[in-house]
Parts: sequence; C-alpha cells; structure tokens
Amino acid sequence: MAKTTFQRPKGTADILPDQVYQWQKIEAVARTLFDRYGFGEIRTPIFENFEVFARSAGDTSDVVTKEMYDFHDKGDRHMALRPEGTAGVVRAYCENKLYGPEHEKPYKVFYMGPMFRYERPQAGRFRQFHQIGAEAFGSDSPALDVEMIAMVVDYLKNLGLKNLTVAINSLGDAQSRAQYRQALIDYLKPHFDELSSDSQTRLEKNPLRVLDSKAPQDQAIVAQAPSILDFLSPASVEHWQAVQALLDQLNISYEIDSSMVRGLDYYNDTIFEIMTNDESLSGAATIAGGGRYSGLVEEFGGPATPGVGFAIGVERLISLLAAQGQLPADQADVDFYVVNIGDEAQVASLAVTQQLRHLGYKAQRDYLDRSAKAQFKSANRTGARFVITIGASELEKGVVALKNMASGQQHEISLNELTQAVPTIMQAASQGE
Ligand code: HAM
Repeated sequence: MAKTTFQRPKGTADILPDQVYQWQKIEAVARTLFDRYGFGEIRTPIFENFEVFARSAGDTSDVVTKEMYDFHDKGDRHMALRPEGTAGVVRAYCENKLYGPEHEKPYKVFYMGPMFRYERPQAGRFRQFHQIGAEAFGSDSPALDVEMIAMVVDYLKNLGLKNLTVAINSLGDAQSRAQYRQALIDYLKPHFDELSSDSQTRLEKNPLRVLDSKAPQDQAIVAQAPSILDFLSPASVEHWQAVQALLDQLNISYEIDSSMVRGLDYYNDTIFEIMTNDESLSGAATIAGGGRYSGLVEEFGGPATPGVGFAIGVERLISLLAAQGQLPADQADVDFYVVNIGDEAQVASLAVTQQLRHLGYKAQRDYLDRSAKAQFKSANRTGARFVITIGASELEKGVVALKNMASGQQHEISLNELTQAVPTIMQAASQGE
C-alpha cells in the first residue's frame, strides 16, 4: 500500500522545541512586565460565535469579509476561529460581568495565543499566527492610552529591540467621524471610476475603509484625501492633545500618521501602531497595533464602557528579534550525561540519572545500548558539562567515573557519596569557567 504523507496547512508553522523554548522566554518577559502594570492573564475560547467577530471587527473589514475561518458545527451553529483577541475578551467581559462594582477599574487583562486569518501567506503573514495582547476597560483617560503605548514600548525595549517607530492617529468620536465621513465621500466621489471595486463598495458603506486599501490605484487617490485630524470634535481634540502631551512627558517619541485607520472597525479616538524599518519584514512591518474602542462593550450587551488595547504579532516579533540578533539563548545544555556500559550498569545508571535530576540538574543517559564511544558522542551533542561512566569495573568498586568535559579531568567518586559531592563539583566547575 502506498504511504500517505501529510504537510501542515498553508500559512501555518510547526514550532519546534528549541523555538518553543525561545517563545516561552519572550512570553515570560511579557508576563512579568504586564503584571507590573497590573494586568492579569485571561484565556478565552479559540472559537466563538461568528457574530462575535462580525459585529465587532466590522462588516466592511477584510478580516470579516474575506479572512474569517468560519464554519457550521454539527449543531448548525455558525462559529469562527478567532481572527483577533479583542472581541472574545469583550464578550467575556460582558458575560462574566467584569464591569461589576467588585472589580477594580480600569479592568486590565492580557492574553497570548493563536489567531486565524485566511490571508495570502508571505513573510510575516500567516493563516495561524500568535498575538500577545492586552485590553483595559472602564476609563476614558488619555493617560490610559499612553499607559498602553508605554507598556508595548517597554516590552519591546526589554526584549532588546531597536529602531522602532510609534505611529499614532486619532479617529475621533462619533461626531468627528460623521463630519469626516461626509468630507471623505465628497472627496472620493469624483474619483469613483478610478477606485478598486472593493473601495467602490466601501465608499458608501464605510468610506474610512478606503483609506486602508492596499490597491495601488486607491493609494494614489487616498494620499490627497482630507485628514481626519481636521475634523475632530472639541472633545476629541482635547483627548488627542492630551495623549501627545503625555507621550512627550514620558519621552516616548512618536510620529503622527493621519492616514492610519487600522484594519478593524471598532476604533475611535487614539489608534497606534509600532513598526520596524527592518527590511526582512518589509511587507509586514507592523509589529503591534491597537487603540481605543468605546462602543464595543455596549454593542455586546454590557453597560457603556470604554476600552483600549493592543496586540503584538509574535511571529513578526520573533523575526525582528532574529534580524537584530536579540533572540533569547537556546535551551541550556545538559549538566550530566550518564554513559552506561553493559547490562549490569543499566539499573545503577538509571538510579544515578534520577538522583541528579532530583538534585535539580539536567541529566540524560543512553537508552539504545550504544557503544561507550557513541554514548560519548551523544554527550557532546547534548553539550554535557560532565560525563559519568558506569561499567562493570566501576560497579565492582562501587564508584562512578566523572569526567569534566571542559578540562578533560577525570576521577572516581564513590556511588554512595555522589549526591553529596555533586553540588560542590558543579560549583567549582562554574567558578572555573
Ligand atoms: P491587528 O492590527 O489586526 O490588531 O493585529 C495586531 C498584530 O497582529 C499586527 O500588528 C501583526 O503584528 C499581527 N498580525 C496580524 N495579522 C497577522 C498575520 N496574518 N500573520 C502574522 N501576524 C499578524 C488586532 O488584532 C487588534 N485586536 C489589536 C487590539 C487590541 N486593538 C485593541 N485591542
């Protein structure tokens, strides 16, 4: 019978143990830092009712119209794999009544995990990718917008990244957008025939989406479009100026990009993106994005509660860390490799390996009955600092042979004294390095 081979789905990746080790380090930095800012971790389902995403991300966004992995389950419910984290968190916020008086405000959460978008795979763009994100609910303060930006910037700096740009913009409140919408339609209408068909559809439904179009013919027209910043209501101007003043206070440099709209429809007032100019990510230069969303909680049946958040793309983050030589070190090497020679050494070598592990060391041994030479090769491959050899002659004397792989020095230690001797030996070896 012919063997079947399988490949992973397009746009997905296998993350192998050495890489997972690095991911965990990167995630640990986020956990420690976000905890310092008062954010607790939340874990919401990977799939939700389709409506959770359709309502929040907006029915004119690519994420909803083109990229959602949606399906009908066996009970004929319309479900979708989450394309982003915010909608599920808002759903959970409402469902668990996290707006209740017993909860501290702002209510702050972070999350990390896989997201799914049916996009054309390319560098930095996958169909299953991962985000580290955060959301804070229940405060309109511009200081909270700035805290979110400061937390991402701190995080990326803690990881050792350089050459990042913080781009900010304001989409204003509903009043600002109503005024801008009309001005934008008035500007775009005369160019209707030159616009891409997607943008033609969006012009009436949601003209701001046209600003986010990737089609070259649209981009040329959009470049001359009026700026939302000229249409902000007095309240939005005040918020926008306060955000800038606070960023200045914290010495966080930023650029204003008045054409930025973001790919999801739920934002108002402050939006931001963090980009790299690193060439390896030229088509996917945005490492993180976020902003304020004032209507979502209400939309999901909760009391009117503003939210603000961001998400970082982990794959892009890792590519950038690699490009800047800042990836965390690989998994640490093995401390001890136990070489066993002959059947009679099997039990003793397993016992010794376990003793070493119980002392807190990384210990490995051979399970393939290989020759001593092959086992020493394995020891080298694992980077073992010490090799312990147990064979018939050692067993007879009640000892093990201990070799320091760096110095080449070897001596015998009584099996009974191994547990007491090892910490001293390790300490001495560390000091000698
Ligand atoms: P987003 O801009 O759609 O925002 O995604 C955030 C980040 O996820 C992007 O900047 C990018 O790094 C990464 N990303 C997005 N799509 C892909 C993909 N196909 N492959 C690889 N990486 C990708 C959001 O998702 C919002 N929920 C952020 C937010 C939270 N806003 C408020 N709160």
